[in-house]
Amino acid sequence: MSTSPRRYHITTFGCQMNKADSERMAGILENMGFEWSENPNEANLILYNTCTIRDNAEQKVYSYLGRQAKRKHEEPELTLIVAGCVAQQEGEALLRRVPEIDLVMGPQHANRLQDLLEQVFDGNQVVATEPIQIVEDITKPRRDSKVTAWVNVIYGCNERCTYCVVPNVRGVEQSRTPEAIRAEMENLGRQGYKEVTLLGQNIDAYGRDLPGVTPEGRHQNTLTDLLYYVKDVPGIARIRFATSHPRYFTERLIRACAELPKVCEHFHIPFQSGDNEVLKAMARGYTHEKYRRIIDTIRRYVPDASISADAIVGFPGETETQFENTLRLVEDIGFDQLNTAAYSPRPGTPAALWENQVSEEVKSSRLQRLNHLVAVKAASRSQRYLGRIEEVLVEDQNPKDPTQVMGRTRGNRLTFFPGNIAELKSQLVQVKITEVRPFSLTGKIVNLFDLDILNSEYSA
Ligand code: SAH
Ligand code: SF4
Ligand code: F3S
Repeated sequence: MSTSPRRYHITTFGCQMNKADSERMAGILENMGFEWSENPNEANLILYNTCTIRDNAEQKVYSYLGRQAKRKHEEPELTLIVAGCVAQQEGEALLRRVPEIDLVMGPQHANRLQDLLEQVFDGNQVVATEPIQIVEDITKPRRDSKVTAWVNVIYGCNERCTYCVVPNVRGVEQSRTPEAIRAEMENLGRQGYKEVTLLGQNIDAYGRDLPGVTPEGRHQNTLTDLLYYVKDVPGIARIRFATSHPRYFTERLIRACAELPKVCEHFHIPFQSGDNEVLKAMARGYTHEKYRRIIDTIRRYVPDASISADAIVGFPGETETQFENTLRLVEDIGFDQLNTAAYSPRPGTPAALWENQVSEEVKSSRLQRLNHLVAVKAASRSQRYLGRIEEVLVEDQNPKDPTQVMGRTRGNRLTFFPGNIAELKSQLVQVKITEVRPFSLTGKIVNLFDLDILNSEYSA
């Protein structure tokens, strides 16, 4: 190995799961003596943590990779790592496509980065994509934020949605124990973190693979039980969780959210399509009626809850009428936010082989129509905030205006207001909302929240 300073750069694509994995891998690298380099061209270890959910996500990885592979011809000391979902999907084929790569590692191997790198430094080209039991991480992640943190609760996915690569690349469900999750949260609380987002592809499926049944025969390691178990972690003022699957969403879970003061009033529950035939072809396991009932129940218990979701347009065979059923659902429910995407055929998934593919023109026109409706509905949902006082957790300076700070409401609306970040960072403040936009708010500070309660929890 060279004696030049060891500097690393990580580029992360894809979802929150990947962001959390990147933070852990960064922690491992720093533990090994690497220093972060903001500029990838000054780093001698480059790690791409990749996403393959849609074709454009995958193509982006290849274009980044191509540039660094070229650089390696002038700087043979450069270490190139491809981690994450493209790594898992392509495996050895990646080495044939880009022979400059030193290490290909699937998402289940994130915690093994040090081991794998040592093999690379011994002169090997390494591929780690075999399914494994994920090891509890012992290394401290290098978290991007000092205020909010991700905590994994369940890895993998046992569903088989006919469009989706995730089960192929993330493996079967593996839940962490409630004890390990609570211990991580307590640690975060001691370090001054205020908000935790519990993470899983289908977080409401949490615990199915853990033992534990009550005398009445009910499984006692559900997400609801977990929320009760972590409800009072000292220092942590807010708890969020994502992503929920309509198939596993229960009234008991909604009641827990209504009852537990730290659990935020925000639900992210993808519906994918508003048409029952399409939902069936997607193998989602629910109808639009069931989805609507879930939302009705949420609004009964938590009237002001904010609701977001994901949807796909142009799934194979989707007719104009079926697409209009998606529009109708969006019109009726009025989401606070909706992530929309045109269907993208993915290798190794059933729907990619079907002959009834929808043309690109139709997909992109449906996407535009849906996005337009989403913006209109989100704008009207934002109106309810005008003039209200909202609790905001201050995360950072507004990058576009240094006289302002920014944070999120409990309902997850991004909110800006005048203030000094040095004073306000990590504080819960009350903000009067003076201006609303479809996906963000502006206001002015009312007063500092009483943090004594949190402080007294500490000393207790
Ligand atoms: N587990 C979550 C979703 C994880 S993937 C759930 O089941 O709801 C994130 C989102 O990507 C999905 O909700 C879906 O809307 C989108 N997506 C997944 N595969 C896709 C594909 N082949 N084409 C377009 N969008 C896709
Ligand atoms: Fe993909 Fe379906 Fe699993 Fe979500 S539930 S990750 S969409 S297979
Ligand atoms: Fe992408 Fe993998 Fe997440 S495919 S969306 S990074 S699980």
